[in-house]
Formats: sequence, C-alpha cells, structure tokens
Amino acid sequence: MTRRIVVLTGAGVSQESGLDTFRDPDGIWSKYRVEDVATPEAFARDPRKVHDFYNLRRRNLLAGHVKPNTAHAALAELERIWPGEFLLVTQNIDDLHERAGSQNLIHMHGEMRKVRCAACGAVTANDADLSLASVCGACTKLGALRPHVVWFGEMPLEMERIGEALAHCDLFISVGTSGNVYPAAGFVAEANVAGARTVELNLEPSLGRSHFAEGHYGKATSVVPEFVAALLAER
Ligand code: OAD
Repeated sequence: MTRRIVVLTGAGVSQESGLDTFRDPDGIWSKYRVEDVATPEAFARDPRKVHDFYNLRRRNLLAGHVKPNTAHAALAELERIWPGEFLLVTQNIDDLHERAGSQNLIHMHGEMRKVRCAACGAVTANDADLSLASVCGACTKLGALRPHVVWFGEMPLEMERIGEALAHCDLFISVGTSGNVYPAAGFVAEANVAGARTVELNLEPSLGRSHFAEGHYGKATSVVPEFVAALLAER
C-alpha cells in the first residue's frame, strides 16, 4: 500500500500560470545564456546583468496575472488529504506551490522572493529589485546581497532531507521537468532503488522517461488533477 509520497516539480507545472519554462522553444534559455546569468562566475563578472535577470523574473512573478493553477492546487489538496508522509520538492524558484497551500515543501534551487547576504549569510524575504546599492537588512553591508537561488556549479539545498525521503518513498511523481538537470534528474533512480512506483506527468516524455514505470502526458492542469483523483480513488 502506498504511504510515503515524494513529488518533484519543474518549470512545466508553472507554465500555464504564465511563467516561462527553460528549455521549451520560447523558454528562458532561448533568450539568455546560462553562463551569463546563472553561475557564480557570471555574478562575479557582471552582477548588474544577473540582478537585472532576476529582477525581471521577480517582477513577472509578482504581476497580478500570475497565479497558481489547478496542478498546484491538486498537489496541495493531495498533501492535505493524504494520511501518510508527503514531501514536495520543487526545482522552481517561484512561490506558486505555497500560494496554492502546499506545506511540506523544499525549494531545492532556492526562492525568487528571498535574498541572501554574502557577508553575513542572512536569508530574508525580498520583493524589491536588487542592485549593487542594495543593503543587507541584517548586517547593513552594502552591495553584498544576491538572489537566494542556486546557480549552476552550486549545491542544491536540503539534499540530505530529500535523499532521506527518496530512500523511503513508495510513490515518486515527477511533474513538468525535462530531466536535464542533476541531481533532480537522478531522483527517479533513487526512488527505483527504494522500490517505489515511479510516475512521470509531463507535456511529453522527458529525457529520463525510461526510468519511470508509468507516464501520463498532457498539460499539467489536466494530467495532474486527473492523476491525483485516480490516486485518491484507488485508496
Ligand atoms: P525545463 O524547461 O527544462 O523543462 C520543462 C518541462 O516541462 C519540459 O519537459 C516540457 O515539455 C514540460 N512542460 C512545458 N509546459 C508544460 C505544461 N503546460 N504542462 C506540463 N509540462 C509542461 O524546466 P526544468 O526541468 O524545471 O535550474 O528545468 C530544471 C532546471 O533547469 C531549473 O530549475 C533551472 C533550469 O536551468 C537552475 O536555474 C539552477
């Protein structure tokens, strides 16, 4: 019987909320180069460019039209109803899962609405544009704030807790992710080692499709609520 669920989400779950994915034809990486905006080296070389990139994305996230969709809502509802353990791990730096009501949630690639001070390490809420003139609210240092996001070459957050949950899960569901980026792309293999049922919900088969026992394809706002309803009906 299924008791412990781990869900992994990626940009596809937020696409119908009005946020671009990364690798689809009009995706973020078709307009920007990773090496220019999403590495520690890029930030050291040209912090203004990196701040501009995240400022734009933060403003877009906070625009009134961006709202959680029925896929976010279905995952929050599953967590609410599910009598066993439930962990949602997202690669997304938007806050649409928490706006939909998800509780046990790990943002393994960080959060767009937080900043981190390189001087004192404080992580604080921030919805304002960042620049070299920004001052840390905790230590008052000027120019040391960076987006609280994980860049390529940096370690994703809370990997120990995620590894523990994967090692004990009996259902692993991957939603809206292309399977290009490790370690998230390797979670399905860890879930398989744990003997879990592994399910992919995506617009199309991902790079990791062969590792999943099951796949359901279509838009997240259709396939996720359908899968959640079927799962709850099985019990
Ligand atoms: P990608 O852009 O690589 O993949 C998005 C996936 O969602 C693709 O497989 C699409 O087919 C699918 N998709 C698109 N629209 C969808 C919809 N409406 N419903 C369901 N699926 C849909 O995004 P991620 O896999 O999340 O990392 O990317 C992983 C990481 O790469 C990101 O967290 C980010 C990026 O570079 C960092 O910046 C560190």
